[in-house]
Amino acid sequence: MPGKPLVSVVLPTYNEAENVAGIIDALERVLTHAGFEYEIVVVDDSSPDLTWVRALEKGSPRVRVLARRVSRDPPLGGGLASAIRVGVLHARGEFVVVMDSDFQHPPEVVPKLVEKALETGADVVIASRYARGGGVEGWSRLRLLMSRAASLLAWVAIPQARATSDPMSGFFLLRRSRVLDTVEAMKPRGFKFLLELLARSPSLRVAEVPYVFRSRAAGRSKLGYRAILDFLVHTALLSPMTRFAVVGLIGTLVNLAVMKAVLGATGLVDAASLAGIEAGLLSNFALNEAWTFREHRRGSLPARLAGYHLASAGGALVTYATMKALHALAGVDPLLGQFTGIIAGFLVNYLASSTAVWRCGVERVEGGGVREAQGRDSLVHQVPPPQDEEEPGARRGPPRR
Ligand code: GDD
Ligand code: MN
Repeated sequence: MPGKPLVSVVLPTYNEAENVAGIIDALERVLTHAGFEYEIVVVDDSSPDLTWVRALEKGSPRVRVLARRVSRDPPLGGGLASAIRVGVLHARGEFVVVMDSDFQHPPEVVPKLVEKALETGADVVIASRYARGGGVEGWSRLRLLMSRAASLLAWVAIPQARATSDPMSGFFLLRRSRVLDTVEAMKPRGFKFLLELLARSPSLRVAEVPYVFRSRAAGRSKLGYRAILDFLVHTALLSPMTRFAVVGLIGTLVNLAVMKAVLGATGLVDAASLAGIEAGLLSNFALNEAWTFREHRRGSLPARLAGYHLASAGGALVTYATMKALHALAGVDPLLGQFTGIIAGFLVNYLASSTAVWRCGVERVEGGGVREAQGRDSLVHQVPPPQDEEEPGARRGPPRR
């Protein structure tokens, strides 16, 4: 039997004094029982309730505490996603598990994440509330609805999120060597670390494990309306949909300019309109190739060009059909119908473009197969020597005051 995998568990904490010792104990039990080499990295953001002191008091040789002297306000470097980033950078294991420290993510699931990674060779294993066999405990309908709406938004906005049933999960495993470069380059805002990682990674392989999200053991949630607003802004900035829309606006201008020129030269309305449409399409295609989807140019250029024509034609048809249906069946004003149709058509064009023309999705892996042997080999692990470079603002042990 070769060396056991080294598993690092990253626990971000903010005012979790009542939970932190308990979750560390529970993790130590579970990981020892599963037979893994492990370490636990607590990343605290100067919790006023001195969570980091409670963690240090455990005195466990396998627990490291990074007590960051930061404010939770994003401009000052704090916040959940940035704490996770620092934890992942400091972790030494090839497998890094990120989870909440309030028992909402059951420690018993951690070995299942590792096993899934071994079995599938996946780079990211997501603990999912929405996979078959998963669920949530004690949520109101409203909370459930909001969570599903956020997932839907994530799937539309971030093509890579379509590989998982729970892109908003805060509970996941990362194969450290495969994500390190991306994580280093990230400047996460807000709390959606996983979503940002997926958005920035064109080629990760994702698997998932179902779990039941529990009620909080003690204390209260730190994520309020500010976090929701942050999520919306941040997702829009990361999404190719924003770039796709900008490109579409430029294409509209090109369309009108070419139509005007052809009309002036020939006086032929139909020909001028068609020339404008084609010019707009070509402009959109070129900009999407060079900008929106530059990292996703797979296959042949002529195939993408043809595919983009199809996606746009599909979008135009949907625009027309929506206008017709709203007008004829519901008596909606045709212009308002057309406007609604334009939004629907845009979505169809964008979804088809980001899935089929430029293939942005990350690969979903299931079960064992060829990858298994390779996955296991890369796990033969001696505990690596400690790394000494430190993140600015993060250090081991309690802050000096
Ligand atoms: N270091 C640090 N800094 N930790 C933080 C911060 C921060 O600014 N804010 C929150 N945390 C820690 C908490 O102490 C907890 O361990 C974990 O991050 C999650 O925070 P909660 O306040 O418990 O979040 P939640 O339960 O509302 O949301 C969780 O579930 C969501 C799914 O519904 C998170 O895991 C989300 O990422 C997830 O989307
Ligand atoms: Mn929580």
